[in-house]
Amino acid sequence: MQKFLVTGGVGFIGSNFILKARKEQWANIINLDKLTYASNPQTLAQLQDDPGYHFVCGDINNIEILHSLLEQYQPDVIINFAAESHVDRSILSPQEFIQTNVLGTFQLLEASKIYWEKLSPQQRSQFRFLHISTDEVYGSLNPADPAFQEDTPYAPNSPYAASKAGSDHLVRAYYHTYGLPTLITNCSNNYGPRQFPEKLIPLIILNALHDKPLPIYGDGQNIRDWLYVVDHCEALYLVLQHSLIGEIYNIGGNNEQTNLTVVERICAILDELVPKSNFRHSSLMTFVKDRPGHDRRYAIDCSKISRKLNWQPKEDFDSGLLKTIRWYLSHPTWVKQVQSGAYQSWVKQNYADRITVRSH
Ligand code: NAD
Ligand code: TYD
Repeated sequence: MQKFLVTGGVGFIGSNFILKARKEQWANIINLDKLTYASNPQTLAQLQDDPGYHFVCGDINNIEILHSLLEQYQPDVIINFAAESHVDRSILSPQEFIQTNVLGTFQLLEASKIYWEKLSPQQRSQFRFLHISTDEVYGSLNPADPAFQEDTPYAPNSPYAASKAGSDHLVRAYYHTYGLPTLITNCSNNYGPRQFPEKLIPLIILNALHDKPLPIYGDGQNIRDWLYVVDHCEALYLVLQHSLIGEIYNIGGNNEQTNLTVVERICAILDELVPKSNFRHSSLMTFVKDRPGHDRRYAIDCSKISRKLNWQPKEDFDSGLLKTIRWYLSHPTWVKQVQSGAYQSWVKQNYADRITVRSH
């Protein structure tokens, strides 16, 4: 069986990928994660007795750890999920985003190149470095604009998006300059189980369950293209197996929704699953001060991956949201762990000055 070195695999998308990879026997996994605030070791507790899974706590900026892991485990594939991933945090403190997303990706590329150059010709040709990126590198769309394609010019607007754009350019350069067999995927907003509740969907679910205000930035008409995380993981595996090297694929859910609609649908599902006798969850909706530089619309054109690798998102938004909400309802211990003191300080920092513009 192949060996995948996954970075950032205790986070949201990486953990879903690892669970799927072990369940489907795609590969044995070595997971290098720094365990930042965004991770919860309990997320992968079910793999603790799995001999095909190894966890290493460490930073992708640490070149010694990278060299020794590559030497020890000799992976066939490296998948870089590790990142600072939250736009609002990148606005309040961008430093870590440059450190991990730009410099960390650079260190990982350097270590991978040195490792790859020493492999046998056959191993070299089979090796892959897959970098997970975002549609946010393409900037913001107007309502009538066509969706982002792989050759849409980069125009990042937040420090997060700029740091991911920088990392994408480095990955591209390592392919063109050194021949490192890289792949880049740019996906839209993911949702599903195990997402840290600083992001819109889990934040709204958990606030609603605790009868707290549901903060909607600006007029709630910003659009995101929501992709169910398991569909995304399946796309990544197809890219690894079948893509030519140096390729870029956009991965989206064909599912553009305004934030207002997303929040309303979550509220409607919660009204069914956990009805309150005295109010509807939507009465908690609150319009608050907008995010600075808030991108208006993202949309992914995923015709390339559909045409070349025969991939389509399978989950529809209502069933995906229902699965997601059920997961949060049935994992109270996980939720409690991620809503620790550090999370409470984040909520204070991000929302205290966001005065309510109007209640719903
Ligand atoms: P996440 O924030 O949930 O998880 C990131 C993980 O990376 C955490 O476990 C964290 O501990 C780890 N990490 C952070 N810095 C590290 C470092 N220096 N060294 C090692 N590990 C480190 O993020 P996610 O939502 O799972 O996103 C995964 C990837 O997908 C990121 O690259 C992100 O930019 C990209 N992406 C995410 C989305 C989304 O909707 N979540 C959308 C588009 C692209
Ligand atoms: P988010 O989940 O932070 O992802 P991204 O900024 O990467 O798209 O936000 C999704 C959308 O939801 C985005 O338009 C911002 C908006 N949003 C709110 O309206 N309220 C919130 O409390 C948060 C966290 C996000």
